[in-house]
Amino acid sequence: MAVDGQKASGMARAWAAAAEIDAEQVRLHRRIGSGGFAEVFLGTVRGKEVAVKRLLGDFLGGGSGADNDGRPLHPAAAKAQRDFEREVAMLARMRHPSLVGFVGVVRRPLCLVTEFCSRGSLFDVIRRFRKPRAPPGSSPEALSAELAAPLAASAAARDAGEPSYGWDVGLGWSARLRLAVDVASCVAYLHGQTPVVMHRDLKSLNVLVTSDWRARVADLGLARLRGGTGSVLGSVAGGGAGAAAAAGSTGGSLYTQQVGSFHWMPPEVIAGGRYAEQADAFSFGVILWELAMGTTPYAGMTPVAVAYAVLHRG
Ligand SMILES: Nc1ncnc2c1ncn2[C@@H]1O[C@H](COP(=O)(O)OP(=O)(O)O)[C@@H](O)[C@H]1O
Ligand SMILES: [Mg+2]
Repeated sequence: MAVDGQKASGMARAWAAAAEIDAEQVRLHRRIGSGGFAEVFLGTVRGKEVAVKRLLGDFLGGGSGADNDGRPLHPAAAKAQRDFEREVAMLARMRHPSLVGFVGVVRRPLCLVTEFCSRGSLFDVIRRFRKPRAPPGSSPEALSAELAAPLAASAAARDAGEPSYGWDVGLGWSARLRLAVDVASCVAYLHGQTPVVMHRDLKSLNVLVTSDWRARVADLGLARLRGGTGSVLGSVAGGGAGAAAAAGSTGGSLYTQQVGSFHWMPPEVIAGGRYAEQADAFSFGVILWELAMGTTPYAGMTPVAVAYAVLHRG
């Protein structure tokens, strides 16, 4: 494990050397997001707005599984560090119009600097723009009047529970389709790499939306290379925020570990079976469902109940 950490960190250094940003050049303005291990800030670098992701305090350290004094970290913190170094390394070596743009890396503490996507995550966008669906049988006039209504749903509607006829997303179908195609083209790019890159945590929370309504796939923290024996990145799999416990060891070039979040996770991953990049296709399908329905399948259920429902009802 330690060896993988060292190799991952070596790669992060090699690949990101050209994109190193001096800590003094980065101004942090406000926190715009956080997950289990990291927090994200809106910042500026040389006058340009950027997003700055860094590990949460408990997981910060000197990198490669050690604290600033070189002492070994708690295993969970060491793993968070390795995943983060791997994320930086992956993003630094890949470019695609729908992959969140890599700006650079701050060395200490390790920060990933990416393009700032001003509309936030697709998850948030869907909730900001959704409104109760019109009851069946509404006249076409009523429906088109509703669709022409101001896009932003009121705060009251946002805070209300599930409406009786479900949600509609107050975004035109062409905008929704373009967002979906953006995500699909980025996933196709990842799967087209040699060896294949599996995202493994594809969900609306990890899709960002730019000011001009384009999607950017982000958060490669759980992404792994498939196959490639001897491949540094492909040799370790692990859990993430909201993930179930590891289900076993890696099986050849396929994975048998549960990572990501249950709402977007295919049954074979939940069941601890072997899976490959097709798992991302399932997660993409859930994103399509969100774009159409304005909510997440099995929303509001506990993780265990979601896992059970996906296994038994799909
Ligand atoms: N480049 C960015 N532009 C705008 N918001 C971002 C950006 N990167 C992250 N965020 C926000 O921060 C949240 C967490 O970022 P993410 O990279 O998914 O971190 P984690 O690994 O903690 O899940 C996202 O869901 C989004 O709301
Ligand atoms: Mg995330």
